[in-house]
Amino acid sequence: MGLQGKKIILGITGGIAAYKMNYLVRDFIKAGAEVRVVMTQSATDFVSPLTLSTLSKNKVYTDFYDDQKTWNNHVELALWADLILMAPCTANTLAKMAYGLCDNFLMAVYMSAKCPVIIAPAMDLDMYMHPAVSKNLKTLEEYGHGIIPAEFGELASGLVGQGRLAELETIFGAVENQLGENRLDFLGKKFLITAGPTYENIDPVRFIGNHSSGKMGFDLAREAARRGAEVILISGPSSQKAEDKNITLHRVTSAQEMYEEVFKFYDKVDIAIMSAAVADYTPKVKAAEKIKKDESELSIELIKNKDILRTMGEQKTHQFLVGFALETQNEAENAKEKLKKKNLDMIVLNSLRDAGAGFANATNKVTIFTQTEEHSFALKSKEEVARDILDFIARKL
Ligand SMILES: Cc1cc2nc3c(=O)[nH]c(=O)nc-3n(C[C@H](O)[C@H](O)[C@H](O)COP(=O)(O)O)c2cc1C
Repeated sequence: MGLQGKKIILGITGGIAAYKMNYLVRDFIKAGAEVRVVMTQSATDFVSPLTLSTLSKNKVYTDFYDDQKTWNNHVELALWADLILMAPCTANTLAKMAYGLCDNFLMAVYMSAKCPVIIAPAMDLDMYMHPAVSKNLKTLEEYGHGIIPAEFGELASGLVGQGRLAELETIFGAVENQLGENRLDFLGKKFLITAGPTYENIDPVRFIGNHSSGKMGFDLAREAARRGAEVILISGPSSQKAEDKNITLHRVTSAQEMYEEVFKFYDKVDIAIMSAAVADYTPKVKAAEKIKKDESELSIELIKNKDILRTMGEQKTHQFLVGFALETQNEAENAKEKLKKKNLDMIVLNSLRDAGAGFANATNKVTIFTQTEEHSFALKSKEEVARDILDFIARKL
């Protein structure tokens, strides 16, 4: 049951291979997925909505309204999905997707979605070879969508060439790889992840720290390791544990120690996610003995710590560098500014103004920014947020 509970929208368009979707729907259901089928008008000429409705155990959507009375909420449907699969995808729908032409229900669902999209095109060989199709596929790949190329073989026209819908096992495998619990999409990749707070000693007893629990960073490390990555996890003081054999845990205390540990490994990794809440300042003098409470006032002079993330941005060669921003005001502007200033590839913003987000909660609500994109996610458990972040990175890579 590799797709247990996964929510899949299957978008079927008007190609001869549409009939094969009956079998694919059956396989998804057998694997434990929930499937909602959306068809273009043209697709309904090729395969029966009644059959697909029976097999998917759900109604099939073909338009914005049922009997001109009830609106099929395309936004709600799009946000429900964990994945949209467009199969078979016609040359016509590919073009609409590439250019954002929203003239039917399927396109409205596709354009409202925030989940991963996989496209399996199918058409006659000359259509498939047309430069417009190649260009549109390239554009869709740049949008971060997964493309399952059409295969060589006998086509419905009687011609032989590339254009045949990929085998159903290949399509199923791509969906499973994207959604399944057993996917290993980071196999062979090395991650450096930081987690937790740092403690800046004032004297042997006291320190300046923050409320970070380390859970977000540990969840990221666990998720990356589960998906096949080798993870170096550098954590400040945290009660979290990392028991995965793919995770090597290095515990540090201060920002300076974290700095030194990070740069032991930075040049050897493919992806670096800096989720630790590192202290910006540290006491200039760390008293050797416990400070006595003789005075009515005590001043501690602080000096700036080295900026780990900025240095990583400056020294970046091949790494995909991800920063975190925890803001309390002008959140989006500050996060985007940090992305640019520190030469990051991606930044994950959490706002302390959102209930349930940030430090010491089991949940988080994040927005991800790249130079060109912005994606806001709902309030979720930190495990799910870790999955969203890694899905986003996987698409970017
Ligand atoms: C018998 C027949 C088979 C077709 N097969 C394909 C096909 O495999 N791929 C394709 O891109 N278009 C195919 N077309 C053309 C599409 O149906 C047509 O471009 C239609 O407008 C697609 O609409 P849709 O993208 O909204 O589903 C076929 C048309 C007919 C009549």
